[in-house]
Amino acid sequence: MRYVFGNWKMNGTLAFAEEYVNKLLGEVRPASVQVALFPPFTALSSFQYLVKDSFLKFGAQNMYYEDSGAFTGEVSPVMLKEIGVDYVLIGHSERRHIFLENDEMLMKKVEAAHRHDIPVVFCVGETLEERRTGATKDVLKRQLILVQDILSRGDIVAYEPVWAIGTGVTPTMDEIRESISWVKELLKADLPVLYGGSVNKGNAVDISEVSGVDGVLVGGASLKVEEFAIIIKAFD
Ligand code: G3P
Repeated sequence: MRYVFGNWKMNGTLAFAEEYVNKLLGEVRPASVQVALFPPFTALSSFQYLVKDSFLKFGAQNMYYEDSGAFTGEVSPVMLKEIGVDYVLIGHSERRHIFLENDEMLMKKVEAAHRHDIPVVFCVGETLEERRTGATKDVLKRQLILVQDILSRGDIVAYEPVWAIGTGVTPTMDEIRESISWVKELLKADLPVLYGGSVNKGNAVDISEVSGVDGVLVGGASLKVEEFAIIIKAFD
């Protein structure tokens, strides 16, 4: 099984989502690829209806680790379970670097998702400075050390070099292969590892051919149905 996931980030109204999903369902019929979309929370509950009886899965971009309480602005695993998400992203680099989520908080989020049987897509990746100083493997080890024993069957890991996110720049195919092999070495369970960071219709085939890449987590290019369909076909 390979995976093509689209992370819409803070983009996409409910009207956009309805039109997008209907168009995507008409564009592709994946044979061997699992496709999931991660829309903003405002559209998320509608996805249980939009994707019903289709190949398309869906997930949340984040969640808190408590089930309920005085956590203004947050969404709990109980709420996500109720609407039937297939996955929850945890530790996306924007959560780490903009919203300052640390490794301990991310571990609690993984544990909370598991308490509610929500599979996790756990995101890791180094900054440009860390890449340049040869610290990539150490960074991946630090980011995984607290969760390497709890990530388990059904979970997925996404390797997303921070410097490739939204920049149009990707690592070389050999760098992708090497970094993903490091992630797999650090995991106790045999889990799928995806690549993310400026995946587009122009590089999808090359990335799909990299040894060890089990799929992709696509940002900007996933907002365009036609381009996302091309990426899906490249992995199918
Ligand atoms: O989660 C995927 C995202 O971080 C990658 O973004 O726009 O570089 O594909 P983008």
